[in-house]
Amino acid sequence: MGSESIADPKIIIAIDGLSGCGKSTLAKDLSKQLSYLHIDSGAMYRSVALHLIREGISVNDIEDIKQALQSLEISTKLHDQVSIPYMNGERVDHLLQTSEVVSIVSEVAAIKEVRSFLKGIQQDLGKDKGIVMDGRDIGSVIFPDAELKLYITADIGARTDRRAKELEARGLEMTKEFIKSNLEKRDYIDSNREVSPLIKADDAICIDTTKLTREDQLNEAIGYVEEVKSRLNAAK
Ligand code: DC
Repeated sequence: MGSESIADPKIIIAIDGLSGCGKSTLAKDLSKQLSYLHIDSGAMYRSVALHLIREGISVNDIEDIKQALQSLEISTKLHDQVSIPYMNGERVDHLLQTSEVVSIVSEVAAIKEVRSFLKGIQQDLGKDKGIVMDGRDIGSVIFPDAELKLYITADIGARTDRRAKELEARGLEMTKEFIKSNLEKRDYIDSNREVSPLIKADDAICIDTTKLTREDQLNEAIGYVEEVKSRLNAAK
């Protein structure tokens, strides 16, 4: 074993929180800084939603959904160190922010068969550690033993503004009223569904990003990563 691996143990970083509070941006920045894999688990739920839309399957048709999952392959591939979602071999990252996908994805994510289908894929991606995964149930269900769990919050105004900018950058126009009410609707469904609702794991560290710059968020998170690594090294 080289001295580098002794000083720098690979860990799993689980990042959870509501939509639009900056989880994916932080996860992306952290993974870049640490040379870790970043997985946006929300993109996987969006990919399933896209598949159901294309197949003309309603979110209420559980039997058809179960059937559709059998021939669905969700994966990620690295492009310039960035992990890109694929669905049955097709690159889909540019298709996941449309209003059609956004309007059904929370209902799709509340289906227990969909969650258990994605759970296996997500856990497999973390088997070698060195991963930052963001979502809603990453610290509570997918990686309950993650070495570092972050729970991100921000107020609804900041979240609406950020989501609007993100969509604008992708060339998608939606009014702030639509974005805000969609975020609130998704908050409600994501936090109140029966299967794996969004909750803060007991051992997660909370970061409120309302007034933090992107750089502040990264620095704060890196501080926690360093603490975890020194604890792990001290325990050796
Ligand atoms: O993070 P996002 O907005 O891309 O997530 C899309 C939807 O998927 C959202 O309604 C929450 C849901 N989701 C989930 O239930 N569990 C996850 N681990 C990730 C996302």
